Amino acid sequence: MGRTCIIGAGSSGVTVAKALKQAGAEFDVFEKGSNIGGMWRYENDNGQSSCYASLHIDTSRPNLGYSDFPIDPKLPDFLSHQQFLEHLERYAQHFDIPRHVTFGTRINSVVPKEGGYAVTLGSGESREYDRVVIATGHLSDPRMPDFPGHFDGETIHSHHYRTADPYIGKRVLVVGIGNSAVDIAVDLCRRAKHVTLSTRRSAWVMPKYLMGIPIDQWSGFLGRRLRLPTPAVRRIMAQLIKLGVGDQRRFGLPRPEHPMYREHATLSQDLLPNIGHGYIDVKPNVSGLNGARVAFEDGSDAPYDAIIFATGYKVGFPFLDRGVFDPDLQLGELYRRMVVPAHPGLIHAGLLQPVGPTIPLVETQGKWIAALASGRMSLPDRPTMDEEIRRHRDYQRRTYLDAPRYILEVDYKLYTAQMKSDMASGRAGT
Ligand SMILES: Cc1cc2nc3c(=O)[nH]c(=O)nc-3n(C[C@H](O)[C@H](O)[C@H](O)COP(=O)(O)OP(=O)(O)OC[C@H]3O[C@@H](n4cnc5c(N)ncnc54)[C@H](O)[C@@H]3O)c2cc1C
Ligand SMILES: NC(=O)c1ccc[n+]([C@@H]2O[C@H](COP(=O)([O-])OP(=O)(O)OC[C@H]3O[C@@H](n4cnc5c(N)ncnc54)[C@H](OP(=O)(O)O)[C@@H]3O)[C@@H](O)[C@H]2O)c1
Repeated sequence: MGRTCIIGAGSSGVTVAKALKQAGAEFDVFEKGSNIGGMWRYENDNGQSSCYASLHIDTSRPNLGYSDFPIDPKLPDFLSHQQFLEHLERYAQHFDIPRHVTFGTRINSVVPKEGGYAVTLGSGESREYDRVVIATGHLSDPRMPDFPGHFDGETIHSHHYRTADPYIGKRVLVVGIGNSAVDIAVDLCRRAKHVTLSTRRSAWVMPKYLMGIPIDQWSGFLGRRLRLPTPAVRRIMAQLIKLGVGDQRRFGLPRPEHPMYREHATLSQDLLPNIGHGYIDVKPNVSGLNGARVAFEDGSDAPYDAIIFATGYKVGFPFLDRGVFDPDLQLGELYRRMVVPAHPGLIHAGLLQPVGPTIPLVETQGKWIAALASGRMSLPDRPTMDEEIRRHRDYQRRTYLDAPRYILEVDYKLYTAQMKSDMASGRAGT
């Protein structure tokens, strides 16, 4: 059985801790901030939260709750970051997790050693554990594009965006068309002088509601109630969205060359209407920065006061030597998206980008890790792990766009079924 060290007390670390506790496994949690919540604690003193004031969860309430701790039905369809944090706090309190967390303690290094791992705390103290669960989040280290030239105005990454206040009356360029970009463009657009959204590939923009019902409840109905396979669900959803939204080219937003069901969903109820009202215009990728002006690949250029790069995040684990786990090379090399095959006691939690919500998916990862930690489930041998990874990578290539952004992509339903099957058989498989 042995002892487990969990690094991080965001939603992932909390639910893994809860599962270990229920399985009777021994564990400690270390959190560098002074409270739980990670990303969902606005202005978290861990310095890591990418939360902006207007952020709302994009999964509707019934699909977001933990299996044994549903969300209060009096809360709205789409919780604000504050409401989700309060829910997570209630969950953690209910299962008595905070007393297991050592707050204000950064883990500085994790080194594999004979039979376990040496974990060094910020204080310099070193402790030994049989396994280490890395739940440190992966959406806080800005990935910046390298456009030629120099821009004279203000530039920030979406990680640092909080409110529209600094942009009142300004001309703002938002780069990217992921969920951060569309949320921020919409948040800004009625207070800024003007907002431009620049995208190199475009995206299929899905509404949060279709015919008055949250969109994930439509896909849930097709997948879970009618038991249709995911590719069929995604094809039907694509048709429903085309009917509900119409042709986004009418708004000047190009149709991506890839099919809707191959991309990570960009959701916004408000982007297209705000383009339609003239608050936001859409440009292709940036081709150059020329002082106060920005040039685009269609040959146009325009003056801006500020640029917000909503260009996603780099994944890193500064407490791990790259010889142990190199995020630039090995993100796609995790058995069941968790276990480092060469160091099977090194287990990632929440290192995912699902089609569907991350938060309840990590609850199942927590149960899987707890089954391992309590000896109720064993890992397969190395060749079987390698085979599972190879199959998953093949599946990813067949299913999603071939771009670095998709290395962490998983299908919620399929992945949940795999983890449940492992736990039921007592031996994790392919
Ligand atoms: C803007 C934005 C919106 C999102 N919206 C959604 C959504 O609607 N639905 C959804 O399912 N997901 C969403 N996500 C994804 C979200 O990040 C995950 O769902 C999840 O909440 C992340 O939890 P986590 O615990 O894995 O990471 P985090 O919340 O980042 O927590 C990691 C914790 O680890 C701690 N830590 C890090 N390094 C160390 C260290 N060395 N030592 C000690 N502690 C450490 C940090 O302080 C932090 O508390 C969103 C992400 C972003 C950026
Ligand atoms: N409300 C919500 O629930 C919410 C809000 C924000 C974020 N999130 C989640 O948080 C995660 C991160 O989202 P994110 O939007 O911050 O990042 P993201 O999903 O990685 O999107 C990054 C965007 O920037 C573009 N981009 C990246 N590098 C570029 C470059 N060099 N030049 C031009 N464009 C570039 C990408 O285009 P390509 O596709 O061409 O690479 C993409 O459009 C996602 O899982 C997202 O769902 C959720």
